[in-house]
Amino acid sequence: MLFSITVNNRKITAEKGETILSALNRNGINIPTLCRMKDFTPTGACRLCVVEVEGRENLVTACSEPVEEWMNIRTHSPRVIKARKTIVELLLSKHPDECLFCINNLDCELQRLAAELNIRERRIKGRKIKPGIDQSGHSIVKELSKCVLCGRCVRVCEELVTVSTLDFINRGQKTRVGTSMNQDLNFTSCINCGQCVNVCPTGALHVKQNITEVQEYLSNHDYLKVVQYSPMVPLAVAEELGIKAPKDIDRILNGILKKIGFNKVFLTGTGTDIMIEALAEEILKRTDATDQSPLFVSACPAWVKYAEQSLHDELENLSKLKPPQQITGSLIKTILSKQLGIKPQQIYSVSVTPCTAMKFEARRDSMMTKGICDVDSVLTVRELVKLIRLYGIDVSGTEGEAADEPLNVRSALSVLAEVSGGITESIVRKIFFRLTGKDADRKMFRNIRSGGSFREAEFAPGGRKIAVAVVDGLSGLPRLYQSIASGRKYHIVEVMVCPGGCVNGAGLQVCMSKEDLKNRVKQIYQTEESDILQIETFSRHLADFRGKYLDKDELLKDKKILHTYFSKRDVLL
Ligand code: SF4
Ligand code: SF4
Ligand code: FES
Repeated sequence: MLFSITVNNRKITAEKGETILSALNRNGINIPTLCRMKDFTPTGACRLCVVEVEGRENLVTACSEPVEEWMNIRTHSPRVIKARKTIVELLLSKHPDECLFCINNLDCELQRLAAELNIRERRIKGRKIKPGIDQSGHSIVKELSKCVLCGRCVRVCEELVTVSTLDFINRGQKTRVGTSMNQDLNFTSCINCGQCVNVCPTGALHVKQNITEVQEYLSNHDYLKVVQYSPMVPLAVAEELGIKAPKDIDRILNGILKKIGFNKVFLTGTGTDIMIEALAEEILKRTDATDQSPLFVSACPAWVKYAEQSLHDELENLSKLKPPQQITGSLIKTILSKQLGIKPQQIYSVSVTPCTAMKFEARRDSMMTKGICDVDSVLTVRELVKLIRLYGIDVSGTEGEAADEPLNVRSALSVLAEVSGGITESIVRKIFFRLTGKDADRKMFRNIRSGGSFREAEFAPGGRKIAVAVVDGLSGLPRLYQSIASGRKYHIVEVMVCPGGCVNGAGLQVCMSKEDLKNRVKQIYQTEESDILQIETFSRHLADFRGKYLDKDELLKDKKILHTYFSKRDVLL
């Protein structure tokens, strides 16, 4: 039911059941908020969104108060502005004065609020929270002296990621965001997804930066410096730089990476293609042998860690193929060292990705070959853009160039690995092609391309039945297990921790709305469809690559270096 209310002496329409904040925003009236997150139930914790409602003695929090027909509201009265200003001043009174050196400098909600409320002096002096930086993890850094206790991270970790690593500990003045037994992050159930970083309004939670070490290696002439990047990185770099991606953005990115100082540029997509082909082979073998156990795709490193700590019985069903970043990394070191007559240790290999958990993935013992890391450093897209700015690269004046052989070609299908359900679709399309000689109609995959956190479908390539399940965010796991318990059998199960897939990774610019995320997903499907290396042409290329490298090289032929293992992890849950 629609009705009108008065706001700042103006009539606006409101809807029964919505909050005051929602009615204000829909009518273009903005007020500051801090603890509130779109699509989450409000907690009313920070009180920054207070407004004055005629007839109410106290100010009310607009994010949690339902709008009523009789309301006459003032959003920016002197009393309201004073209250908001005091709230932010109190937060600043405990905050360290380190803005100049903070990773979030110029990209901080607290800074923005202070500026918006015209806070130009320290009126309130509070006791600073003891500095203490938890750098134990490879992906996420916790610096709680900068925490404003908005609770967003706690809610995202619990409600969206469903891991509940973070929680409020202590009471009153001593309240902090902590972990189970207040252990350092690396020893907790944290799966490094970075979704908490995406919502933290300050620098209290941030992605571990590897820029400095990359810079050091770039200026060291004893190493061959190589870089790989995943298919969505070029689009994401354009988005982060605020430019419209030109058609040849992939080639331009190759040129940019060379200007930065990398000797060779490779495509992670080649590794994705090798993984997809091997998974398709495995599924075909299983359907031949009527193997009943589902094959869980292990390309999402956050999901793999989750399974290692919470789903021990599932570990044997996880695909033992390395994920694309690591396949590409191990191929780079193996092939290049032989081609150039250098030791693998003389190759410094960097990967650029949308994902924060891949920083952790690259450091796993199981991702090393004879004690040598497949990938030495992982940069997120946001870190790469910092590097581009740091080196003053003129992006618009950069000539496009090809990636370097031998990992210089990727198929259209490899692009799909960036979205939830994309790896499953790619495997099924590979199988269709193998059995029928034709690519499958994309429309067949509608049910796994969208439709909630648990999606399933059945396909019949060449008359063979293949049942698949896609878990888009861990909140979809209970439905998968309900379905399995009811007797449903799947050949392929794909789980991605970040809802939407890698397009929503924490190494990218934060998606501000569901629409933004949908647009990114759409971009990936459009890129796949318009890519010139469709399945038929690419299959010929991959066969050449196999003949030239994979089948010739003894080390690669036994495929050990392309495989990994998983172990149970004991963490405090
Ligand atoms: S990185 Fe993910 S799992 Fe770890 S604390 Fe943050 S939201 Fe939770
Ligand atoms: S760590 Fe960040 S998101 Fe979590 S409560 Fe503190 S300020 Fe909020
Ligand atoms: S934004 Fe409304 S109480 Fe925090």
